Formats: sequence, C-alpha cells, structure tokens
Amino acid sequence: MRLALGTAQFGLTYGLTNHGQVPFSMVKSILNTASSNDINTLDTAIDYGDCEARLGKMDTSNFKLVTKLPKFPDGCDITSWITSQVNDSFLRLGINNIYGLLLHKPEQLLGSDGPKIYRSLELLKEKGLVKKIGISIYSPKELDVLIPNFHFDLVQAPLNLIDNRLINTGWMRRLKDAGIEIHTRSTFLQGLLLLKQENIPSKFLQWNNVWNQWHQWLSDSSVSALQASLSFPLSFPEIDQVIVGVFSNDHLLDIISTSKDTLKTALPNLASEDENLINPSNWAKL
Ligand SMILES: NC(=O)c1ccc[n+]([C@@H]2O[C@H](COP(=O)([O-])OP(=O)(O)OC[C@H]3O[C@@H](n4cnc5c(N)ncnc54)[C@H](OP(=O)(O)O)[C@@H]3O)[C@@H](O)[C@H]2O)c1
Repeated sequence: MRLALGTAQFGLTYGLTNHGQVPFSMVKSILNTASSNDINTLDTAIDYGDCEARLGKMDTSNFKLVTKLPKFPDGCDITSWITSQVNDSFLRLGINNIYGLLLHKPEQLLGSDGPKIYRSLELLKEKGLVKKIGISIYSPKELDVLIPNFHFDLVQAPLNLIDNRLINTGWMRRLKDAGIEIHTRSTFLQGLLLLKQENIPSKFLQWNNVWNQWHQWLSDSSVSALQASLSFPLSFPEIDQVIVGVFSNDHLLDIISTSKDTLKTALPNLASEDENLINPSNWAKL
C-alpha cells in the first residue's frame, strides 16, 4: 500500500477547518484501520504538539515511523542537541530506532552549521538508530541548493492537482534516479480540494478560475473530488508513499476504498505556481 498516514492532526489543531485535535479514542481507531489495511508508514514530527507521546501510548510496531527534527536553536551545540532531541523523541514514541528522521527546516543545512548538522545525522545512521535521513521541503527550489551538497535517503514534498512543482521541475524523476525515497503530502491541499465550491473560504476566491475549472470537471466527469485528488499522486510510480491526513476513521476508510478504484478519465490541468495558493504556510496572511 502506497498510502501513508500523516499525524499532525493527532497532536495539533491543524488544517483548514478548525476540528481541534483528534480525540485519543479516534486516533486509536484510525491507527487500527490503517494497520489492518496495509498502511505501513506514519509521518510525524517533534513539533506536532503531543503527537509523539500519543503515538507512544499505542502499538505502532506495525508501522515505519518517520519523525522530524525542529529548527535548531541559535548557538546550540548541534551534536548534543540532536542527540537529546532524538533520545526524547524515542522515549515519547517508545522505540529505540526509527525508520526515518527528516529535517523540518532543511534550509539550516545551508548555514555555517550545515556540515555539522549533516554529520550528526550520518552518525545516527551509522549507529543504527536511524535507517533513513532526509528532509521535508515546502518548495522543490530547496532541492536545487541542497541535493548537490548533501546525500539524502528520503525527501518529503508537497504534491497535488494544483501543486505540480515536484513533477514540472523534473525533481521527481531526478530524486527517483538518485535512489531517493519520495513521500508526498498535501494530497488534498489540507482538504481545500475536497470542499464543495460553496464552502470554499472567501480568502481563496481570488483563485475562482481554478475552482470553476475543478468543479466543472468534477460535475462533467462524475468523478469524486476524493478520487481525482488521490489518483493524481498515486498515478506516479516514482512516489513511494502518498501521505494523507484525516480527522476521522470514516475519512480514512473512504480514502482506502477510493484508492483501490481506477480512474478512467484524464485529470484536469489545475497547476498553479502561485505560492500564496499552493503553500498553506502562506494562508494565514491571505
Ligand atoms: N513540513 C512538513 O513536513 C509537513 C507539513 C504539512 C503536513 N505534513 C504531513 O502531512 C500530513 C497531512 O497533512 P496535509 O496538509 O497534507 O493534509 P491533506 O492530506 O492534504 O488533507 C487532509 C484533510 O483532507 C480532508 N479529508 C481527508 N479525507 C477526507 C475524506 N475522506 N472526506 C472528506 N475530507 C477528507 C480533511 O479535511 P477536513 O477536516 O477539512 O474535512 C483532512 O483534514 C500531516 O498530518 C503531516 O503528517 C508535513
């Protein structure tokens, strides 16, 4: 199964709609559903509130865990800071080694501490504490400057029907050719792609041309927004894991069953390069 489960929603009030944090009992059923449907990867981060601690209270032995190191504080001793962050993360998660460790703010590799940060990650790998080291990016432009200077085993990047940059820049192919595992997120653009047109928040109406095209296509082709959005990243065999975020077990069940359907219609071209639309970290200032 190439679907992976994102867990930001488990530890934070996260996303476009204000659902609040997913209740603990719901997290348990979501994980049970994931595990019994061959979803084998969980994406988490030290910065996701109490998410790691919540996951640590559950049996995650069926999953490959991927966590992320937060921004390095200025002036810290890099090696000891990383060691203590990783130790604490392992304690919270109840594990003694992890599949993936990513940098949440990989641009810090470009500063004067970059080589030291990278060496510390390599050491964790050499000690067998981490299987794959990598980065989580917001834009493929970050790859232009990082990939020539560092070797990563895993890259997580946004990709969806509107944000096609990973493909259009040629980076998806290049990462694959370099043997780098690729995880994509933002499959539903935080749920924006799944909203009925009348429910799209007014701050997004400046992209009405995109929504008109998208909703016209959905109605003309009688395909659900969920199926079209999921089919897009899943149609690229280069992508190893397509991360999805859910607030309920029903959402996950819906995603799992929809991912098994084959789409017979060509998808619309909704690609936009407008960072205010495709990068959710810009939405607060819209
Ligand atoms: N820098 C990073 O590393 C980074 C950044 C962001 C996210 N992530 C990871 O990516 C994961 C996913 O986050 P994302 O932003 O990429 O979210 P996403 O998967 O694009 O969208 C998730 C949203 O889609 C909606 N949804 C999902 N299934 C649905 C269904 N069956 N029916 C109707 N609506 C459905 C829900 O929105 P509603 O609740 O509004 O219905 C849900 O909150 C996070 O948990 C995190 O692990 C990583």
